[in-house]
Amino acid sequence: MTTRVYILNGPNLNLLGKRQPEIYGTETLSDIEDKCLVFAKKNNLQIVFKQSNAEHELIDWIQQARSDAKAIIINPAAYSHTSIAILDALNAFEGIVIEVHLSDIYQREKFRHHSYTSIRADNVIAGHGPEGYLMALKKITS
Ligand code: DQA
Repeated sequence: MTTRVYILNGPNLNLLGKRQPEIYGTETLSDIEDKCLVFAKKNNLQIVFKQSNAEHELIDWIQQARSDAKAIIINPAAYSHTSIAILDALNAFEGIVIEVHLSDIYQREKFRHHSYTSIRADNVIAGHGPEGYLMALKKITS
């Protein structure tokens, strides 16, 4: 049976590759999606990969995942540090939640050290760049 995993990306991650490459690297979000799809094919996973700059859209996808997915991998980007609404949506999801950050949020500005969404996450992977998404997928399949 195929297992469905939602991979959700928050604001400004559509600019990956162009946005502050010294922090976020040169790979685009579409490069990351391609790598996730290769992994998914090998491991019999089905991936729903999405990005939005809008908080409500991320919440709608998390709600949709309730009846549709075994796990959510989420990089909520700046919403990690502000959004109780996304935390509430994740709390209503019963599957596995893994939070990914490309950069090491704990080594950056103080306002990035706290993540509301990580309160619900089963795992947080930060500071491993695009590889973090694959590390999250491996956790789900192991
Ligand atoms: C980020 C870290 C956040 O603090 C920041 O707002 C982002 C990206 C990361 O992937 O490193 O937009 O989530």
